[in-house]
Amino acid sequence: MIKSFSILSHLSQRVAFLVVICFVLCFVQFTLILQLISESPEIERFLSLSSNDNLSTILNCTKKLKCPNNITRFSIHIDENIQYPNLSYVRSPVFTTILDTIRNSSYYTNDSTSACIHIAPVDTIDRDRRSKNGYYTYFIEQRLNFFHEWSDPNKIHLIFNHYTGTWPLYRRTLDFTLPSRHILALTSLTTANYNCLSHVTFPLFHSDYPSNLTNKFSSTRTILLSFKGKSYEDVQHHRTFFRHLNNNHDIIIKYTDNTSSYDQHEYTELLRQSYFCLVPSGRRLYSYRFLEVLQYGCIPVITTNDNEFVILPFSEIINWSQSIIVYSNSPLSLLPYYLKKIGKQQRIQMQKECIDIWLKYFSSIPRIILTTLDILNDRFISSLPS
Ligand SMILES: *[C@@H]1O[C@H](CO)[C@@H](O)[C@H](O)[C@H]1NC(C)=O
Ligand SMILES: *[C@@H]1O[C@H](CO)[C@@H](O)[C@H](O)[C@H]1NC(C)=O
Ligand SMILES: *[C@@H]1O[C@H](CO)[C@@H](O)[C@H](O)[C@H]1NC(C)=O
Ligand SMILES: *[C@@H]1O[C@H](CO)[C@@H](O)[C@H](O)[C@H]1NC(C)=O
Ligand SMILES: *[C@@H]1O[C@H](CO)[C@@H](O)[C@H](O)[C@H]1NC(C)=O
Ligand SMILES: *[C@@H]1O[C@H](CO)[C@@H](O)[C@H](O)[C@H]1NC(C)=O
Ligand SMILES: *[C@@H]1O[C@H](CO)[C@@H](O)[C@H](O)[C@H]1NC(C)=O
Ligand SMILES: *[C@@H]1O[C@H](CO)[C@@H](O)[C@H](O)[C@H]1NC(C)=O
Ligand SMILES: *[C@@H]1O[C@H](CO)[C@@H](O)[C@H](O)[C@H]1NC(C)=O
Repeated sequence: MIKSFSILSHLSQRVAFLVVICFVLCFVQFTLILQLISESPEIERFLSLSSNDNLSTILNCTKKLKCPNNITRFSIHIDENIQYPNLSYVRSPVFTTILDTIRNSSYYTNDSTSACIHIAPVDTIDRDRRSKNGYYTYFIEQRLNFFHEWSDPNKIHLIFNHYTGTWPLYRRTLDFTLPSRHILALTSLTTANYNCLSHVTFPLFHSDYPSNLTNKFSSTRTILLSFKGKSYEDVQHHRTFFRHLNNNHDIIIKYTDNTSSYDQHEYTELLRQSYFCLVPSGRRLYSYRFLEVLQYGCIPVITTNDNEFVILPFSEIINWSQSIIVYSNSPLSLLPYYLKKIGKQQRIQMQKECIDIWLKYFSSIPRIILTTLDILNDRFISSLPS
């Protein structure tokens, strides 16, 4: 005690002053570090809140639907044009597969009077007037009215659709009058417009889906995040931001707007080699990319223009919360930070979930149609023991 006092007394005033300064500096630094520590859970909290919040909800219709006319079993009939049985129709490959799958399924009935729901064999998949594929059905109302069930107010009609509206607004309109009772299988449903009694979520896919490239599952992934596709600068302003994330190392962002030949191989290689794949909304809310990314075991990272909350396909039966990322209400610049926080074990688990979900519900167009019918079957009251 005495010794230390004597040491202190030996210090000059100048040294004592320096010690005080040092203490002040240390204190400032300490508080700064404290602030940083308390800020990062703040970022995390806001990232995790913004993300998978709504994903853990399974859309559960508490109110069940009833088949008309005391029909007790869920069944579907493809309506027939009795007046002009020989009239031919132009149908897209996707719609043709939908009809074939329904006809082959256990829910199909060839008896119109005993059917719980109906489908008119008129292609409603593409309702984009400017569509270049040639499958926009003109005079659709006249064509639909050839089917007497269509105007029967008692009958429930199932309508499949991939594209509504057209450039530049892509309004959510089918461009025909809906029958009084209907169920729409749609691709761009949001929490704001989904109606449990008349909607069923449906994924977007090409007619040649799924791609038959072999060697899908890569065991060595070196890329954290990737994207290769169009920027859609005219309608999707948020997509153009991704270029800032590219580092040519573990984040690869490639826009293909200006390339004359599209390198499909590179696209799938990126899906194979990345842990996470960006799935921004396309011209409409959904993107083909979603199922393609799942198929390759890459974890989809969903982003939308105005943080519109997209309902993922088959949320009626799939709990997506452990498998994918919906990144909304957070700055895109924080995305790499957010993804790096997800450890390798968890990534592998998520990838496994993605592949399992894909195999179970999305592995072919018929599989997708049957999943849709299964969801509908659950939604109707059945008096038969299950
Ligand atoms: C979905 O999964 C998450 C995580 O396992 C769970 O917290 C949530 O309750 C699940 N949702 C439903 C509707 O089962
Ligand atoms: C849906 O709701 C019903 C009744 O509220 C409940 O019995 C059922 O377990 C729920 N299903 C899911 C998948 O959450
Ligand atoms: C439905 O059942 C009720 C009672 O069993 C009966 O009164 C009614 O006529 C039936 N309706 C049709 C359309 O068969
Ligand atoms: C319609 O097809 C049937 C055979 O499927 C044929 O007998 C009939 O003549 C055809 N009618 C017309 C108007 O082409
Ligand atoms: C429907 O069944 C037929 C005959 O079994 C089969 O050839 C066809 O591929 C099936 N189509 C679909 C889409 O399931
Ligand atoms: C339904 O199919 C069965 C046999 O497959 C046939 O006997 C029956 O006439 C068909 N009914 C109608 C309404 O076409
Ligand atoms: C994929 O399928 C198409 C037609 O079904 C075929 O022409 C092509 O060779 C197949 N590609 C591979 C890689 O198997
Ligand atoms: C496409 O080319 C134009 C003109 O050469 C250029 O301004 C633009 O940045 C390019 N876009 C992309 C995505 O590379
Ligand atoms: C979750 O869904 C509700 C409506 O069910 C919606 O109001 C809310 O904005 C959604 N949350 C996010 C993060 O989008």
